[in-house]
Amino acid sequence: MTTCAPEKTTQDREGDVAAPKILVFSCRWCSGIGADDAGRQRLPMPPGFRCVSMECAAGINPDIVLKAFSAGAEGVAVLGCHQDGCRYNQANHGTAKRMEMLATLLETVGIGADRLLTSFGTAHEGHQFAELMRRFSQKIAAMPSLTRRKSADAAGGCADDD
Ligand code: FES
Repeated sequence: MTTCAPEKTTQDREGDVAAPKILVFSCRWCSGIGADDAGRQRLPMPPGFRCVSMECAAGINPDIVLKAFSAGAEGVAVLGCHQDGCRYNQANHGTAKRMEMLATLLETVGIGADRLLTSFGTAHEGHQFAELMRRFSQKIAAMPSLTRRKSADAAGGCADDD
């Protein structure tokens, strides 16, 4: 498992404060290539995400997604190959089902299903990956912060959703 992070541009640095922390689990055969390509082309991307490259999306289970949220991620993306393009005997089909169930759980516990992005076959090129990250980051940034909400809950007060 390797990690990558977008190189910050001057434009990105200005937005650092508001950039939500997003953890991206990406299959190295599709979105991992897209992430590398986006980085090589220096496409503008939000500065708050980090990638964890996986051999296959099948290696991503609900536990690690929940751990990411509990460690402070505001959003988690699970990116894999096309459903019929998985190199491991369509192992990503199970991942799609597990992430669907996890989304329901996230909604039930108040984290919100929208904080989990599951996508297959949509980010294998640099421009696709960059666009997906920009849109997801904007969506997460528009939501109340989970970290601030946790702090408010711990203090027994109300969350400040500004
Ligand atoms: Fe990419 Fe399985 S090899 S999702």
